[in-house]
Amino acid sequence: MRPYIIANWKMNGSFDALDEAWGIDEAAGEYRDVDVAICPPATLIAPMADELSYAKAGAQDCHQAESGAHTGCLSANMIGEVGGTLAIVGHSERRQDQAETSAIVAEKLIAAQKTGLEAILCIGEPLDVRDAGEAESYVCQQLAESLVGDIDPAMLTVAYEPIWAIGTGRVAGESDIAAMHAACRAQLVERFGDVGAGVRLLYGGSVKGENAPQILAIDDVNGALVGGASLKAETFAPIIAAAA
Ligand code: G3P
Repeated sequence: MRPYIIANWKMNGSFDALDEAWGIDEAAGEYRDVDVAICPPATLIAPMADELSYAKAGAQDCHQAESGAHTGCLSANMIGEVGGTLAIVGHSERRQDQAETSAIVAEKLIAAQKTGLEAILCIGEPLDVRDAGEAESYVCQQLAESLVGDIDPAMLTVAYEPIWAIGTGRVAGESDIAAMHAACRAQLVERFGDVGAGVRLLYGGSVKGENAPQILAIDDVNGALVGGASLKAETFAPIIAAAA
């Protein structure tokens, strides 16, 4: 399976940050056996998509509707129109801040795929759920509820991001990541048959150049979704290199 490394810039990056994107693109050109994508704030998708040669540009979210009275939102079609080829859906920050349920996330995922965007579905448990020993059932339920309806597994990537590991410098244990990815893989195969074995499963949560080699070597970790360390080419390029 080709490794997949995705940058999620979150609400960071003005036009100056495009220089970092060009640096990331250079690294993507150097390691062509790795798929690389950057999901910047919506304002930067078009200029990035116009200039990137090796990395893809995408969005951090899309609305489930095609158009209409949804102030401040972007449809999947609008993202595609400016050259975006993927959309993250169900990031825990949106599930929390925008009260997005898995049912809404499932609709967004289908809306993205319907317009030809690849969907990056995020799932992950909060710390109290992990501490209660219920992480696996919580995440599997999120996965099941986010994959409802007519979904194309060929245009799907799943990112497991334990919420307590996001931006904290605290990475999930290797055996915990392996166990969660194995559980997700089993569920994907149950949901999609053999094709489910080919859906890429990424890990996200404090991935850096220093820990990327260990994380990416874990069974069934097919790449990484990276926040903080993706904002600069010099900190993101080593993660791409580690996946090669
Ligand atoms: O979507 C990526 C993200 O939530 C992980 O963030 O800063 O821990 O790499 P970070």
